[in-house]
Amino acid sequence: MAADAQETTPDGGPKHVAIIMDGNGRWAQKRGRPRLFGHQAGARRVRDIVEACPGQGVKYLTIFAFSTENWKRTQTEVSGLMALFRRYIVREARALLTKGVRVRFIGDRIRLDEKLVAMMDELELLTSHNDLVHLTVALNYGGRDEVTRAAKRLAYEIEQGRLTHKDVDAETLSRFLDTHVLPDPDLVIRTSGEARISNFLLWQSAYAEYEFVDTLWPDFTPEEFARVCASYAARDRRFGAVKT
Ligand code: IPE
Ligand code: IPE
Ligand code: MG
Repeated sequence: MAADAQETTPDGGPKHVAIIMDGNGRWAQKRGRPRLFGHQAGARRVRDIVEACPGQGVKYLTIFAFSTENWKRTQTEVSGLMALFRRYIVREARALLTKGVRVRFIGDRIRLDEKLVAMMDELELLTSHNDLVHLTVALNYGGRDEVTRAAKRLAYEIEQGRLTHKDVDAETLSRFLDTHVLPDPDLVIRTSGEARISNFLLWQSAYAEYEFVDTLWPDFTPEEFARVCASYAARDRRFGAVKT
């Protein structure tokens, strides 16, 4: 979507919020528990935030669950996370369906376990008629990886003669991204106090507003979410122009 297409709710709140859910490991460490304990607590938080979206006028919520770099973690943590994603889908599918949530996944599915991919496909299909909240889960997602895959597919279309180099512009490239059906995020929140994007939605966040909060993800409440959404409304988005 064009960078100047400012998306806000009637109250000036963000329409698309993207969250880098960080700090699960530290949350567990503070309690002397294994990292996976933190991931489980983090997964429980997702439901509260999804449910808070309609009240904030947030139509699109995109959450970073596993990055293309997270494979560098121990085998125990990676397989624990993959098992958690499978359990999450099983446990939450019904509630997501009845609460009007449409679920999508972005990221490269090639490296994910077949069974998990089948469950992701099924959940996407199951919720495909919902429209209250569009929840997008970034799993094995990396911004550079996404743009690279898009460029590769674009090159293939050119090779096949369906497009020419003259068709290559930002709009065309966007159509090849995993997020092609989504508007760009208006607000990107990162929890845990780290002020970096860690390869999240690089292309799409060109003009997003950022909010870095110190709270560790398992402690991030709907109240804090509401505060951050409200602070977005007070921001002056200029998209490179000068306000007259
Ligand atoms: C974010 O929490 C969740 C994932 C990356 C899967 P972390 O696991 O990165 O938690 P910290 O940053 O180590 O505290
Ligand atoms: C980003 O957090 C990825 C997710 C939240 C899924 P990381 O914890 O992996 O990022 P770095 O390593 O601190 O940059
Ligand atoms: Mg982290």
